[in-house]
Amino acid sequence: MKPVRKAVFPVAGLGTRFLPATKAIPKEMITLVDRPLIQYAIEEAREAGIEQMIFVTGRGKGALEDHFDISFELETTMAARGKSLDVLESTRTEPGSVISVRQQEPLGLGHAVWCARNIVGDEPFAVFLPDEVMVGQPNCMAQMVQAYEKVGGNVVAVLEVPPSETHRYGVVVPGADDGKLVEIKGLVEKPPQGTAPSNLMLPGRYILQPEVMRALDAHEKGAGGEIQLTDAMAKLIGTQPFHGYRFDGERHDCGEKVGFVIANLALALRREDIGPQVRAYIADL
Ligand code: UTP
Repeated sequence: MKPVRKAVFPVAGLGTRFLPATKAIPKEMITLVDRPLIQYAIEEAREAGIEQMIFVTGRGKGALEDHFDISFELETTMAARGKSLDVLESTRTEPGSVISVRQQEPLGLGHAVWCARNIVGDEPFAVFLPDEVMVGQPNCMAQMVQAYEKVGGNVVAVLEVPPSETHRYGVVVPGADDGKLVEIKGLVEKPPQGTAPSNLMLPGRYILQPEVMRALDAHEKGAGGEIQLTDAMAKLIGTQPFHGYRFDGERHDCGEKVGFVIANLALALRREDIGPQVRAYIADL
């Protein structure tokens, strides 16, 4: 079984649910407490043992690459003023470990992943949706890699949501279920309300086999007229093992406003440096 060494971060979406914040800055650069969303995803990948990060970007997304580069002027000035550069440590990357490819048009998540095919090559890879922030110890992808090492094939994170919300997500047709790993017998993207095969949805962490790229070659449009990753994954079912993994931890949907505000509170309250002050303020409110 080949290890998971590469991760794809599709970051070429327009972020329309978060306008006007996302007019001139990428959604993935919005700050959660004190670091941009993309940094949480990169840290999760690193802790899960992933070495090669592949950004699928679009026009106006240069800030994402700059964030993981050296900022010469900033660092020189801080050093000259005797300020510690430790605060920038988590933004440092090995030369060559972050690669960007362009998705010229936002044709859908499946199309974005397909744009990374030549860099992914013939090995399993992870996909992270950076606007979904996962909190867990070990982190969500690290838990998934452990599960992948047992069952191989494709392993995707799954989460239960109220039936009234399933129409917003990719939803699983479940098979055998041991409470942690659930066999996936089918997948439906954004099922119309009342038709979902279960309330198990895909919150944006995937370990996939490279064959999914061949399914994406067809460029078939699905829900919303977009090329959907869910539809391509569904084609692998029956040809390769396919499991959902219920991870231990919390998920925050930072792609929409309420989820983002809650994530800020949840993460700030956990922090030793600022948690007590934030807690006191909320208690006061
Ligand atoms: P979303 O469904 O959240 O779309 O995409 P979006 O464009 O970012 O945001 P809204 O819905 O307009 O508010 C999920 C992930 O897939 C990426 C996004 O950047 C996000 O990380 N994506 C989506 C692409 O990279 N390309 C696409 O064509 C679509």
